[in-house]
Amino acid sequence: MADKIEVKVPDIGDFDEVEVIDVLVAEGDSVEAEDGLITLETDKAAMDVPAPQAGKVASLKVASGDKVSEGTVIAELEAADAGADAEPAAKDDAQEASETPAPSQSDEADDSSSESEEKKTPAGEKKEVEITVPDIGDFDEVELIDVLVSEGDEVEEEQGIVTLETDKAAMDVPAPHGGTIKSVKVTSGDKVSQGSVVAVMEALIGGESSAAETPADKKDEKAAASDKQSDEKAAPAPKAQSSDKPKAESKPDRGSLPAIDESGFAKAHASPSVRKFARELGADLVKIHGSGYKGRITHDDVKKWVKSQLRGASGGGGLPQVPDIDHSQFGDVERVALSRIKKISGPRLQASWVNAPHVTQHDDADITKMDAVRKALKSDAEAMGIKMTPLAFIMKACVHALREFPDFNSSLDPDGEHLVMKKYFHLGFAADTPNGLVVPVIRDVDEKSVFDVAGELGDLAKKARDGKLQQKHMQGACFTVSSLGGIGGTAFTPIVNAPEVAILGVSKAEMKPVWNGQDFEPRLTLPLSLSYDHRVIDGAAAARFTRYLADVLGECRNLVM
Ligand code: COA
Repeated sequence: MADKIEVKVPDIGDFDEVEVIDVLVAEGDSVEAEDGLITLETDKAAMDVPAPQAGKVASLKVASGDKVSEGTVIAELEAADAGADAEPAAKDDAQEASETPAPSQSDEADDSSSESEEKKTPAGEKKEVEITVPDIGDFDEVELIDVLVSEGDEVEEEQGIVTLETDKAAMDVPAPHGGTIKSVKVTSGDKVSQGSVVAVMEALIGGESSAAETPADKKDEKAAASDKQSDEKAAPAPKAQSSDKPKAESKPDRGSLPAIDESGFAKAHASPSVRKFARELGADLVKIHGSGYKGRITHDDVKKWVKSQLRGASGGGGLPQVPDIDHSQFGDVERVALSRIKKISGPRLQASWVNAPHVTQHDDADITKMDAVRKALKSDAEAMGIKMTPLAFIMKACVHALREFPDFNSSLDPDGEHLVMKKYFHLGFAADTPNGLVVPVIRDVDEKSVFDVAGELGDLAKKARDGKLQQKHMQGACFTVSSLGGIGGTAFTPIVNAPEVAILGVSKAEMKPVWNGQDFEPRLTLPLSLSYDHRVIDGAAAARFTRYLADVLGECRNLVM
């Protein structure tokens, strides 16, 4: 059996009570060693806390917005099976890695050389000080991705001098004191380690000079400094886009993305894993609107941006943008983060909506007989701890219709020229949970009785509501049923769960007067709404499918066993 190990926040330097800005995994997710689990952010650095080894996330102990410190348990990991003999050793190693903070440097090493010189310096005196890379944990030969200052720049204490980036963290090296930059010793792309000198400054040590300096003086000096910079080098901080951007930025070439604005990229509000992802895709973070916690750019934001660029580049014209409005100008507003499920399902729904031309076919099924059978089975089902709702019958009936119309049990091959026909009948059902919509999957519905299906429906719906669904519970569906019958409504247009090609929406069954040729008869009528991908399914086929389904439900044939 797999062992559980606690994953703790490692040595994060001098920081305490650091904010969790992103939780990158969910309970049940499988992770590889070194995959980021959460992202932390201080005002100096953003860093991922990685999985110490491969395994499954058994439980998460933190959420976005929590504050954590070194040693805080963030998750429990079920270590991947590594063979009976190897397991205990692997666990010990991993536990050590996750529970023991990375060896922290000595106090002396933490202090930059400037600190020791400061002690000997009389208050208020100017002193030449080397700015060195502080303790950056276990990293060595780290890439310097941005130089934020130039010679002659006036800097405040704690102002970023250079930005370093590993695949786990992006961090600024701050000025140890306020003062003037005398010389810069590095350039973008250099590799640096703890102790590397990045710049030399004339520091104002003791604080009197800065107190004596009036804001007006400072302003004047800054203006002068910025005039000086404008001659040769880019100004340290500006995020503003210059008007002479490379042409490729305003009009991307076919198949290529705009050039990255490196200085803006370094300052973008994104976690290291997102930065790495963006670099891999060639996405410029400067141009991406962050939808995450406190406006942070997420993986999905990067994906969406790249997709929109590619669509534009391939002549599709891209999606027209919805206006970005400051709603607070009209009244009080509150910005609330979307749930994790919504963040995941939203882009998928949108992808389906934009990629698959949707049409919805509506029909009614007379389920008077089916409902009588259901009611007759209800007490037997209850004795087995099963709630027998119409949905179990509907899913069984869908299998009959999918057998009769196999195109509905297919996916369009990405080449756009073939259908992948599925010979199995795994059916998804949309489940409403407090955190959003999920789609658990019942496998091999064709081989199961209506009792089995109803039992699994109940189990999976409970897991969904309790947030306990695992990836394996949501994979492999051929066709989905979305039932709003327990809530109400007469019809709706569900979005196909692409790459499936159709989805059945079910609304609330109502007793209706139906003309039998001589009289109006009261019949229990179930509204069906079948949305389909018109690239694969024709309207006539959809009408036949829905009619056939209605007939199967009406006759209630072969649905029970
Ligand atoms: N017509 C009339 N009554 C219906 C019905 C229908 N089509 N479907 C269900 N009911 C009744 C059930 O019999 C039950 O009644 P009872 O308690 O008297 O026996 C009641 O409505 C509640 O059923 P419910 O608990 O919802 O069970 P279910 O098996 O129908 O549905 C889920 C289970 C998980 C699918 C459902 O709870 C759910 O989450 N639905 C929302 C799906 C959704 O959000 N879809 C939208 C996607 S765009």
